[in-house]
Amino acid sequence: MSLKPLFDFAILPDKNHRQPGGLAGWDILSVDQFDKAQLEYVFTRAHEMREMVQRVGAVDLLKGYVLACLFYEPSTRTSASFIAAMERLGGSVIPITQGVQFSSVSKGETLADTIRTLEQYADVIVLRHPDIGSAQVAADYARVPVLNAGDGAGEHPTQALLDLFTIREELGQIDGLKVAMVGDLRYGRTVHSLTKLLLQYDVSLRFVSPEILRMPLSIMNRVIDAGKDARETHDVADVIENADVLYVTRVQKERFTDLAQYEEVKNMYEITPELMTRAKQKMVVMHPLPRVGEIHYAVDHDPRAAYFRQVQNGMFIRMALLAAVLGKA
Ligand code: NCD
Repeated sequence: MSLKPLFDFAILPDKNHRQPGGLAGWDILSVDQFDKAQLEYVFTRAHEMREMVQRVGAVDLLKGYVLACLFYEPSTRTSASFIAAMERLGGSVIPITQGVQFSSVSKGETLADTIRTLEQYADVIVLRHPDIGSAQVAADYARVPVLNAGDGAGEHPTQALLDLFTIREELGQIDGLKVAMVGDLRYGRTVHSLTKLLLQYDVSLRFVSPEILRMPLSIMNRVIDAGKDARETHDVADVIENADVLYVTRVQKERFTDLAQYEEVKNMYEITPELMTRAKQKMVVMHPLPRVGEIHYAVDHDPRAAYFRQVQNGMFIRMALLAAVLGKA
């Protein structure tokens, strides 16, 4: 006689024994981990999540699972959307998002020990940290999946996935588009991840920034190696007429060592209704947010302003990713 199991929970595959192809048990550290088939898979799941939320609001797919949200840097959208995503899938959250000053980090605890503690309680960890490479360090210590929610000026892979998803949902395709990125291309982690992801598609790239905030050479070299049609300029006027996607970013004040330099470049770009009269009728303006003056509030009424729809897409993408790494999608 075989005994009936007490609980019917899916056993999370060990990180070292992941099934090839699927995302179960994965750390999500960089967009480089995703091939086109996996991107399509995540987008399809995210689309289903949207339909599910619109129909019933929430399900219990991740009932009994716990997410630890560990944020060493400020966040509104990334933290709130991960929390909302987990809750709409029936799971629960340990939120350490109000500043690690209230955790043992303020007593000098290392990232490794904090991670090894949280994995005793949680099935998945979302980490935002000011150091490039910190998500990799956390993943090396953790037995549960670690999702990189921004490692300094490094990467922000879940943001890039939601950005790409937004482009696809708004414009119906990614191939054939001209994507212009504007602002702080040096320190902005979202544009680093987005550029790398876009290299998998047939796109033209335009990089608009002040001299000191140009896209890092390591990424430009990849753009060149991929044989993309790509150009750099200081002036939005050079790209506004042809852009299908205008991806605007904030100058990352917190990454500057010399604040006088920040003052010089902080107000270089502002997207205004007047500038938008020169843009295509079918195009989108995106921004990872927060904005601090780069897009005039009057642009918000323009149907091409997609940044708040982009915000909502973040929740659907993170629902898809949480379900996938926990082996439930
Ligand atoms: C971005 C970030 O934290 O990198 N915000 C976000 O996650 N939506 C962009 C920024 O802070 O400028």
